[in-house]
Amino acid sequence: MTTVKMKFRSTCPAIFLLIFFLFTVQSCSTSTTVSSPDGTITINFELKGGKPFYSVQKNGNPVIIPSALGIKLSQKLQLDSNFKVVALKQSVFDETWTQPWGEQKEIRNHYNALRVDLGAASGEEKKLTIVFRAFNDGIGFRYIIPEQSAFSDIEIMDELTEFNLAGDNKSWWIKAYQWNRYEYLYQTSPVSKIDTVHTPFTMQTDDGLFLSIHEAALTDYSSMTLANKGNLSLEADLVPWSDGVKVRGSAPLKSPWRTIQIAGCAGDLITSYLILNLNEPNKLGDVSWVEPGKYVGIWWEMHLEKSTWSSGPRHGATTKNAKKYIDFAAKNGFKGVLVEGWNLGWDGNWIENGDKFNFTQPYKDFDIKEVAAYAAAKGVNLIGHHETGGGVLNYESQLEDAFALYKSLGVKAVKTGYVNYGTGIKRIDQAGKVQGEWHHGQFMVRHYRHVVEVAAKNKIMLDVHEPIKATGIRRTYPNMMTREGARGQEYNAWSPDGGNPPDYTTILPFTRLLAGPMDFTPGIFDLLYEKAKPNNRVNTTLMKQLALYVVIFSPLQMAADLIENYEARPEPFQFIKDVPTDWETTIVLNGAIGDYITIVRKDRHSDDWYLGSITDEEGRSFEVKLDFLEQNRNYTAEIYMDGAGADWKTNPYAYEISKQQVNRTTVLKLNLAPGGGQAIRFSPEK
Ligand code: NOJ
Ligand code: CA
Repeated sequence: MTTVKMKFRSTCPAIFLLIFFLFTVQSCSTSTTVSSPDGTITINFELKGGKPFYSVQKNGNPVIIPSALGIKLSQKLQLDSNFKVVALKQSVFDETWTQPWGEQKEIRNHYNALRVDLGAASGEEKKLTIVFRAFNDGIGFRYIIPEQSAFSDIEIMDELTEFNLAGDNKSWWIKAYQWNRYEYLYQTSPVSKIDTVHTPFTMQTDDGLFLSIHEAALTDYSSMTLANKGNLSLEADLVPWSDGVKVRGSAPLKSPWRTIQIAGCAGDLITSYLILNLNEPNKLGDVSWVEPGKYVGIWWEMHLEKSTWSSGPRHGATTKNAKKYIDFAAKNGFKGVLVEGWNLGWDGNWIENGDKFNFTQPYKDFDIKEVAAYAAAKGVNLIGHHETGGGVLNYESQLEDAFALYKSLGVKAVKTGYVNYGTGIKRIDQAGKVQGEWHHGQFMVRHYRHVVEVAAKNKIMLDVHEPIKATGIRRTYPNMMTREGARGQEYNAWSPDGGNPPDYTTILPFTRLLAGPMDFTPGIFDLLYEKAKPNNRVNTTLMKQLALYVVIFSPLQMAADLIENYEARPEPFQFIKDVPTDWETTIVLNGAIGDYITIVRKDRHSDDWYLGSITDEEGRSFEVKLDFLEQNRNYTAEIYMDGAGADWKTNPYAYEISKQQVNRTTVLKLNLAPGGGQAIRFSPEK
């Protein structure tokens, strides 16, 4: 239970090595393999009767048994059969790159690649390329539809990629094509029982492997869900446009990477950086203006219905209230203050009337210039807010002005939002008719990326709510900081089902968070809010709220509660003030999906380490070795733990804060109450 997995940390300068082997083959039945650098993972590519297939093995055991590849187009010519191999090319790549910010500073991108160029076995000329990469922590492959004489415009009607599983793995999933996007609790079942599901889709095999199917570099394609075809066969199910077309584009067209992370223990899924490695390097150049940090804001009070987004006597976003938060942020070292409900458009049903939002006009009681100047004078930044209600055409028509306004006010980060349901995103088609689109289709994928680019042009960071799922594009656009994309803390304020149950945050790290950072908004100290919301509460202990700052990585991290609740509990609040949001390295000390997890991370800007440990509804204790600490150094551990008798249900506030001298030989006992957690700061003694 207490195994510590040290991950690769390079001290060497970046190594860059490329070797090419070129084969020219002309055959309808071919089989070739490429293995990971450590030889444990093997991808086999095969052409059987002119149809492409792949399979994956780990340590010689099948993980994916032969599974079809191919693409169906709208025209007669198809890219799924009647192929011959024209060329096979193997290459090796090994490079260590630096994240400008993140959960891990140095990342090694080391793989063996196989590029397969296919051509028509007979008849009309056609081309399809499939590129495979085998890493030590999994595999990726993508399609490239090269330029060719038969067509240049492309309409993909179906992607035939299969993931035929070798066993009826246990799995954690959220059903796709639902009204409320991906904002559902996870279900756990054997794969044979799943529906069509979102990715990342995480599984545990009978022989103890952990797998996660997802995609990387989704920037101009529709997102992939997985359909259960029976017999342990999953098929890529691309979210369609309203007219049924799955993807529009022109040759050459590259699909996102289809990824399968493969780990020997659940925690190794978390420290796999395969998704980032499959994205393009930073396109923005100097990103010294991108600054991770913590923020507070006018937010939770609306979710508790203490104030309103809309105008009127209870309006939250007033000049006066914003100044109060700015004062609090300045006093406690928070960089940002989020203000929601500042602009015209919130009155009435703002989800149905998303096209009424105005992104440059503040409400009368919010003097945006005065607030921004007040913040600047106190060394704090206003965090902007663009709720679109899914009215993306309205938003796009104001996008340039909206970001220019924020830029002129010195705003460095903007939170966006797309609250809308099902196929409620409106688009005008070529005939001038209104069509309804999914959040996950290509229309919205393009929109989300466009906003990232406009924000970058204005040197503004983004925190996207109701986003497209993360697929690692933060590597290419380092201003794409964090996003929601799952049920966040807000569900505890108002969800009729009683909010997120205690095990929820022990599932997230192994599922949603494998895709990338999440703006979960931890740190609620008034857990019960009996007066404001008698039927809701936060289903954790107080200490678990602290531990979430380490467990859930987000470069922009909110201290979500009301000022008075932090002022009432200054001792535990100290941990939120201290905890960084930008890390040198991350190590998962233990974890079982849906049960518990313990993570330690080293601060990128000091020698401090932080630990977060959380459990589901069961109380647990762990012994953890502190051998991640530096040699020959003593540290002070500031320990924030559940107190005697603490229990999320009956006694959530009991806590104990203590200090202890430790070093790398110390074995520390963690005690977590039912629904509880523990947070520790380790700082070297001077
Ligand atoms: C949903 C977002 O997740 C939440 O953070 C925000 O307050 C509301 N939409 C209003 O924009
Ligand atoms: Ca939301």
